[in-house]
Amino acid sequence: MDTSALDCHRKAGRIAAECREWARENIRPGVTVRHILETVENMIREKGAEPGFPTQSSRNHVAAHYCSSPDDEMEYEEGDCVKVDVGVHVDGYIGDTACTVDLSTDGRWTPLIKASEEALAAAIAHVEPGRPVGEIGAAIERTIMAAGFEPVRNLTGHGLARWKVHTAPQIPNYGERGGSKLKAGMVIAIEPFACTGRGMITEAGKSEIFMMVRPPRKSRGLDKDVLSAIMGWRGLPIARRYFNHMDQVAVEDTISKLTKQGSLMRYPPLVEKNGVMVAQTEHSMYVGEDGVEVLTTV
Ligand code: CO
Repeated sequence: MDTSALDCHRKAGRIAAECREWARENIRPGVTVRHILETVENMIREKGAEPGFPTQSSRNHVAAHYCSSPDDEMEYEEGDCVKVDVGVHVDGYIGDTACTVDLSTDGRWTPLIKASEEALAAAIAHVEPGRPVGEIGAAIERTIMAAGFEPVRNLTGHGLARWKVHTAPQIPNYGERGGSKLKAGMVIAIEPFACTGRGMITEAGKSEIFMMVRPPRKSRGLDKDVLSAIMGWRGLPIARRYFNHMDQVAVEDTISKLTKQGSLMRYPPLVEKNGVMVAQTEHSMYVGEDGVEVLTTV
């Protein structure tokens, strides 16, 4: 990776971390989820970058991909276990980071959150060129299970490439043999999820997150302005909220037609069973020849 690309990743990572810390301090019972997400996205722009993906904040058994609709009034509640996942891009180079906040009055979710934080630290300690990803997963699984919880097994860490949030290698949250090896020059995100259930998530509910996976086969009947706004994100994940300033009928119609064509993929919330609590901690990092550089620190 050339230094200017790495410097973009560094800037994106630092901004993502600053926004994550703002969210950590400001997620409180009675605050709307949408306020946090929109404020983070505004902060990203004020700092001279753009969202790398829609900011997401998932409560309790929802593990990931909860993203507010344009008129969502849902509030955080006392007792919640709240994830916030922030993505920033600078010229297409992405920083991806997440943390979890305990809104209980008795610190009930703190051991669960600590398990995912310690699993991330254990994983980072194993990052070096040539290391099989299964060994990173083993460190995550061992740490979470030693704390008395289960890792979410069907969510993984991932590589980060220009304009691509999820590329090879997949980094499992459990140990496995074989698999690919980390290479010097890679930028990766590691994201252990710890939970109080079995650790298998499924899709549920309405999608607010979309991603263009290929250009539309036919653009006849599509609103030109909305289509060019969507294409402007160059394949990065987007939220319905991004297009609030546009004609809402045209936005809905274009999203629905592109989705039917298979041009736009939708990403609904990912949930464990009701009553199960899920915590997530994530950093992006550069796999250097002489060691790892965590990019999402303030
Ligand atoms: Co990620």
